[in-house]
Amino acid sequence: MPEALARTAPLDALGAEAKLTLNHIRAYGYLYTFGLVEEFILPFVLDHARPMLAQDDVRTRALLRFAMEEAKHIHLFRTFKREFEAGFGTRCEMIGPADQVASAVLAHHPLSVALLILQVEWMTQRHYLESIRDNNGLDEQFKSLLRHHWMEEAQHAQLDTLMVETIAAGCSVAEIDKAIDGYLEIGAMFDGAFRQQAAFDLDALQIKTGLQLGASQCEKAIAVQHQAMRWTYLGSGISHPNFLRSVEALSPARAVRLAEVAKAFN
Ligand SMILES: [Fe+2]
Ligand SMILES: [Fe+2]
Repeated sequence: MPEALARTAPLDALGAEAKLTLNHIRAYGYLYTFGLVEEFILPFVLDHARPMLAQDDVRTRALLRFAMEEAKHIHLFRTFKREFEAGFGTRCEMIGPADQVASAVLAHHPLSVALLILQVEWMTQRHYLESIRDNNGLDEQFKSLLRHHWMEEAQHAQLDTLMVETIAAGCSVAEIDKAIDGYLEIGAMFDGAFRQQAAFDLDALQIKTGLQLGASQCEKAIAVQHQAMRWTYLGSGISHPNFLRSVEALSPARAVRLAEVAKAFN
C-alpha cells in the first residue's frame, strides 16, 4: 500500500519489518473493503437500471455495463484476496459480513446510496492518481490490479454522477437534504467499523510477528490506523472536488457541511 494511505511511518513502536507487515495487512484490507462496497454497488446499479429497460436504450446499456464491471471487480478482488491468504498464513479478521453491510447500506434512501457510491468512485480515482500511478515502491501485480480497476472506475464516476442527478430530479428539496444526511449516517457507520478494523489489524500484526505491544502503544497505533482508514475510505472521497460539486448542485448548504466533515477525516 502507498504510505499516503497506510500511514505506518508514525508508529514508533514498530520496527521496519513490522511496519511492512502492517502495510501488507492494510493492503489485504483494501482488497476486502473494495469487495465489500462492490457487493452493494452491484444490486443498487441493477435496481436503478431495471425501470429503464423499456425506455432509454443507451442509458440502460451503460448501466448494465457498469454493473457487469463491478461484478468482475468483486471476482478480481476476491482472487487477489485468496492469493494473499494463501501466502500470508495468519488469519486477518475483517469487518462485515458483506451481505449484512450491504443490507444496512441499501436500507437508506436511494440518493444516499448513490452519493456513497459516487464518493467511492472519486476516491478510487484519487488513490490511483495521487499515490499509486507514480509510486515505484509498490508490488507490480498489486499496482496492475489497481490500475485496471481505476481504468473502469473513471467511467463509473461519470455514470454515477448521472445516477445521482436522475434520482435527485425526482426528489423534493427536503428529501434531498434528508438523503444527504442519510449519506452522512452511512459514513458514520463505516467510521465506527474502521476503528474496529484498525484493532483487528493490530491483532493480526501481533499474531503474525509475535510482537506484544503495551496498552498505550496499542491505543496509539489504533488511533493512527483508524485515522489512516478514515482518510483512505472516507476523507479522500468526501473532499474530492468533483464529488463536492455534485453535492453543491443538490444543496449548497449541505456541500459546505460535507467539506467541514471531510476535515475530520484528513
Ligand atoms: Fe469497481
Ligand atoms: Fe465502480
